[in-house]
Amino acid sequence: KKIISVVGARPNFMKVAPLFRAFQQYTDIQHLICHTGQHYDDRMSSIFFEELELPRPDFYLGVGSGSHAEQLAGIMLGFEKIVQSERPDLVIVVGDVNSTVACSLIASRFLIPIAHVEAGLRSFDRTMPEEINRLLTDALADYLFVSEPSGVRNLEKEGIPQEKIFFVGNVMIDSLLYYLPKIAQSKILQTLHCQPGEYILVTLHRPSNVDHREELQELIGLLREIASLKKIIFPVHPRTRKKIHEFSLEDMIPTNVIITEPLGYLDFMQLVQHAALVITDSGGIQEETTFLQIPCITVRNNTERPVTVETGTNRLAGTNPTRIKQTVMEILNGNRPHGRIPEYWDGHAAERIAKIIYEKL
Ligand code: UD1
Repeated sequence: KKIISVVGARPNFMKVAPLFRAFQQYTDIQHLICHTGQHYDDRMSSIFFEELELPRPDFYLGVGSGSHAEQLAGIMLGFEKIVQSERPDLVIVVGDVNSTVACSLIASRFLIPIAHVEAGLRSFDRTMPEEINRLLTDALADYLFVSEPSGVRNLEKEGIPQEKIFFVGNVMIDSLLYYLPKIAQSKILQTLHCQPGEYILVTLHRPSNVDHREELQELIGLLREIASLKKIIFPVHPRTRKKIHEFSLEDMIPTNVIITEPLGYLDFMQLVQHAALVITDSGGIQEETTFLQIPCITVRNNTERPVTVETGTNRLAGTNPTRIKQTVMEILNGNRPHGRIPEYWDGHAAERIAKIIYEKL
């Protein structure tokens, strides 16, 4: 049997790495990787292939950036050719990026079964492109692999038949557990002259936070205030860097904020693991901080990962700078959230997925 797993953007790579390893146990399954090229910079893509020990992708579509329409159409045109020539028995898509939905649409057109890893997550905010991608992908998928209990409830409410839904846990945590020894060897703390527990790690890249001058300016203003409380490390996503430049906000960033390029997986996770606190608008980082029991402040009004708030160490602080600063101060003053690790976030989610797929195919 032949399976093609799709990766496109940075948060996909650490989700497919454990699947790749899990399928190696099944010698009668040929597992191929298609990289759409949605993310293409070395620091957004190739570094992850090296660090996660992923093989070179079997197919590379090279779509790159563009408007949503250009990106989606480019991925569909490229993936259609692959599916036509390869005729896989299953297409696996992960997460909620444009590559996820575009490849699902093509697979469905060719009547090829689709497995969606990280199914069922809902922010209920349709202004986010990711929410649309999640809804559409789940409507098309045949196997819906769910990482947290809310996902099962959401899919049931949407009328997805029970037999398609599999609560298997979190493949992103599979990666985190697997690479912990390598993460410990990263030299990033030394390189940045930082001590464990003595800095706040910040990431921002959501279009709603960075694409408009007013919001971005407010958030950078917030960083200025927080920087007076504690050292900040801020690895800047290409989208955010572009916008900071476009709005000429470079000079607003205080000098004691350590700005870096986007970091590789191992360096970044070491910074998460030793942070006093993480401030982010990412999805995956809410989960990684929950697993590592590091306080996380999510600069958004909603989360598609409610277990990180209910069970984990995540706090939804909205985007109001005053409220965020207040939450930062509470945590720095010792009011740290005590979280538990959610069910099935145990390093074996990909093995469960591979076993189910093997038995069903
Ligand atoms: C995408 C995902 C988002 C995910 C994020 C992680 C969608 C709709 N969004 O958002 O869910 O959280 O990836 O990073 O799929 N760029 C580069 N180099 C690259 C890639 C992008 O410079 O390797 C620049 C592009 O010029 C583009 C911007 O970054 O303007 C944004 O890239 P894009 O792929 O549109 O979406 P992300 O914001 O990264």
